[in-house]
Amino acid sequence: MEHEASRPVEKTRRRRCVLISVAVCLLVVVVLAVALPLAHRQTPDKLKATFTERCEAFKGYDCGKIWDAFTQAYVGRDPCKVPMEAYDPLIAAAPFKPACNRMMFWSKTKDVVHDFTSKRDCFITLEDTLLGSVLDGLTWCGKEGSKETFTTDCPGWTECENNPVRSFWNRASAAFADVACGDVTAMLNGSISTPFSSASIFGSIEVKRFNATMMRSLNVVLVTQKNPVANCENASLKDLQKELDGIKYTCKEVAESQIQECSSKPEKPCGACW
Ligand SMILES: *[C@@H]1O[C@H](CO)[C@@H](O)[C@H](O)[C@H]1NC(C)=O
Ligand SMILES: *[C@@H]1O[C@H](CO)[C@@H](O)[C@H](O)[C@H]1NC(C)=O
Ligand SMILES: *[C@@H]1O[C@H](CO)[C@@H](O)[C@H](O)[C@H]1NC(C)=O
Repeated sequence: MEHEASRPVEKTRRRRCVLISVAVCLLVVVVLAVALPLAHRQTPDKLKATFTERCEAFKGYDCGKIWDAFTQAYVGRDPCKVPMEAYDPLIAAAPFKPACNRMMFWSKTKDVVHDFTSKRDCFITLEDTLLGSVLDGLTWCGKEGSKETFTTDCPGWTECENNPVRSFWNRASAAFADVACGDVTAMLNGSISTPFSSASIFGSIEVKRFNATMMRSLNVVLVTQKNPVANCENASLKDLQKELDGIKYTCKEVAESQIQECSSKPEKPCGACW
């Protein structure tokens, strides 16, 4: 009898338990669905705030003026018709300064390069310069007949050639390579079959801008992992060498682990990492 009587109570308790679990789950799903995209989505106001905040980390620049030069490149334009020249006034507003013997180019090695340059003050990549750092990771575009900046529904990197983001990186890469001087370093990826691709920004824009009058050498650091795919003998690197008219060329295979170890020991002299 006692057993019988306790049953319905247990049943309602269990049912309540299930209901509460379902409610909690639903709440979590709703909160995540609302909060996650918001956390990741840059609104136009947030884009300007991020731009300004990053810009102000560099002393001696008029960030309001640089923002205006930036927006004039794409505001009011079809987002598939923004050529790289549209950013000429922006480059003029915040010109790249030569940093002889410290300039670092990269292709398909973004993470390891920036882990390295963020931990040690040896090399400067495009993303460490004012314009590169201010726009790194951001998306923006305009619309024909509108004075606004948009941060969503902008064309993707490959959707159309002349999109505002891609044209900016092409223009900024060209300007950065234009001031390359002294001994220059390039980190390329030894885990892919063509470490030097003539279709990459490095191959199609930067290398073409290198000027032997100012640049002494290009020193390739070919980053290798456990099972390297390509080495310094790879034919694609010979193609790179051929493009460097009058600029000395070296290539060295360096294990990614060695670079990471060097990143974690900032007291080591810069030249001793490879
Ligand atoms: C090289 O490219 C491969 C394949 O895309 C990638 O997994 C690897 O992390 C890259 N290596 C470096 C050092 O970035
Ligand atoms: C290389 O730089 C020198 C000196 O700044 C300049 O006179 C020359 O026109 C440049 N060459 C090219 C091909 O841009
Ligand atoms: C080396 O370079 C050539 C041509 O640039 C490429 O086709 C080849 O697959 C590359 N990689 C290896 C591992 O040989």
